[in-house]
Amino acid sequence: MALIVLAADKGAPGVTTAATALGAVWPRPVLLAECDPAGGDLAYRLPAEDGGVLNPARGLLSLGAVARRGLHAEQIHEHTQKLVGGLDVLTGLTHGEQAGGLTWLWGPLGRSLAALPHADVLADCGRLGGHPEMGDFVAEAAQVVLFTRPSLDHVAHLRERLALLDGRPVVVVIADPRSYRASIEEVRRIVAPWDVAFVAGLAYDPKGAELLRGQWGGRLDRSLLIRTARELAGRLAALLSPREPAGRPDRSGAARGGAGR
Ligand SMILES: Nc1ncnc2c1ncn2[C@@H]1O[C@H](COP(=O)(O)OP(=O)(O)OP(=O)(O)O)[C@@H](O)[C@H]1O
Ligand SMILES: [Mg+2]
Repeated sequence: MALIVLAADKGAPGVTTAATALGAVWPRPVLLAECDPAGGDLAYRLPAEDGGVLNPARGLLSLGAVARRGLHAEQIHEHTQKLVGGLDVLTGLTHGEQAGGLTWLWGPLGRSLAALPHADVLADCGRLGGHPEMGDFVAEAAQVVLFTRPSLDHVAHLRERLALLDGRPVVVVIADPRSYRASIEEVRRIVAPWDVAFVAGLAYDPKGAELLRGQWGGRLDRSLLIRTARELAGRLAALLSPREPAGRPDRSGAARGGAGR
């Protein structure tokens, strides 16, 4: 179905947190893929579906080892795992040094993920600044989503990235609920010279982010982070081809609360 690249230019605005939240509420079948050349975090943050730890060796690393002989979309699921709550995940590299030997992987990986027949792919690409090799991957995306905090330094880097990107990216401001609309409006004004699809918000919600780092519970479903993620997921999915089937149930609530964590 569609490859959606989630990234920042610089800093750590909360791309991985946003990717996890969006994956939890995505309205269609979805695979969360950790494609951050600096390394993944999910294996260290979240339990697997059975309550154990995710296997960091099964994911991008194992896929990279076999992909040298050619990479096909059908191979991807041999390297995925399930997070608590049932979300399919392709775990990332365990540390950034591994990316040095895998610069050739990003283009073929992007093509394979974009060709995955039964699921959208939310690809957490981390920081694009300093990783020109990610250009081949980003070029395969149906939609690029850039995350920023509303601070001057973050927005300055966002503008630099917008000047380099093709297409019409979505900009997401991770904003304090107390100044939510004003922050989004300010960033919207600053990026007005660029052709972006839309500027939206995601709540800056430390409690929700903590819950999403492993302390799962019933409250997660009602957190501001998940509520704003649900709204954002709906807007993003609406940008993609309307012919794609809808129907995977929301994974943020009962299953995760039921895990008792
Ligand atoms: N929406 C949010 N509200 C509150 N805190 C957040 C939010 N998103 C992320 N955080 C916090 O900010 C820190 C960085 O988050 P995260 O790992 O998601 O960022 P990142 O952009 O993926 O960083 P990196 O580029 O290092 O991978 C974490 O401590 C996380 O809990
Ligand atoms: Mg990250």
